[in-house]
Amino acid sequence: MLSLKNVSKSFGGVKAVNGCTFEVEENTITSLIGPNGAGKTTAFNIISGLTKIDKGTIRLIRKNITNLPAYKIAQSGISRTFQLTKVFKNMSIKDNLLIAKKTDEEEMKQVLDSVYLEKPLDTIASELSYGQQRLLELARALLMPHSLLMLDEPTAGVNPKIRQEFKSILKKLKKQGKTVLLIEHDMEFVMDISDFVIVMDEGKVLRVGKPKAIVKDKKVLEAYLGK
Ligand SMILES: Nc1ncnc2c1ncn2[C@@H]1O[C@H](COP(=O)(O)OP(=O)(O)OP(=O)(O)O)[C@@H](O)[C@H]1O
Ligand SMILES: [Mg+2]
Repeated sequence: MLSLKNVSKSFGGVKAVNGCTFEVEENTITSLIGPNGAGKTTAFNIISGLTKIDKGTIRLIRKNITNLPAYKIAQSGISRTFQLTKVFKNMSIKDNLLIAKKTDEEEMKQVLDSVYLEKPLDTIASELSYGQQRLLELARALLMPHSLLMLDEPTAGVNPKIRQEFKSILKKLKKQGKTVLLIEHDMEFVMDISDFVIVMDEGKVLRVGKPKAIVKDKKVLEAYLGK
């Protein structure tokens, strides 16, 4: 459903993404992993149109979306969350959700239920724990009409209980036929929920495969542990 072909992006002398080619298949959970600075978030920013690329092609369901403005890419069906959460802290849950979509309270409650966030709609976001704010951000991404959901380290810094909730939410989404591209550092989490894993290192795609093959791959271990 999503494909990148020979995509490159440099910042000054830094080749953040360097000739990346990969695909995300429909109705899979695909994890993008790799050491710090590997280029994962840059790849997300490229796909969602926040960062323009120097070279290459990006397609979503065969439509060429290369270097379209971010709002057009969102309209084409990509919804995402951010590594540093972008919840509006001084706004209520309801107003945070209304940013995604003009909707009614019933749909808002449904989506909050689906992410296990059982709080009144008028709760101010700053009163939520960090993990709950991440769930709110996920709820907002889910409300946006989309065919591909991209999550940048959704469980970083959240407590183990919410981490488990994220897992079960992702499994539910997959059952519903959704497609998810996920950046995640917790290997146990990645192994448990991923259909495919894409490993990036120094801007390049190092490996693509099923989780079982990836965990014991020598090159992947080297990239993480150093040579
Ligand atoms: N806007 C920018 N300007 C300059 N350099 C950037 C910019 N964004 C990213 N980089 C550089 O590109 C490289 C890849 O960064 P990126 O944030 O994509 O890595 P990452 O894989 O998401 O890492 P992490 O796991 O730490 O989040 C890094 O060297 C980073 O410093
Ligand atoms: Mg990142």
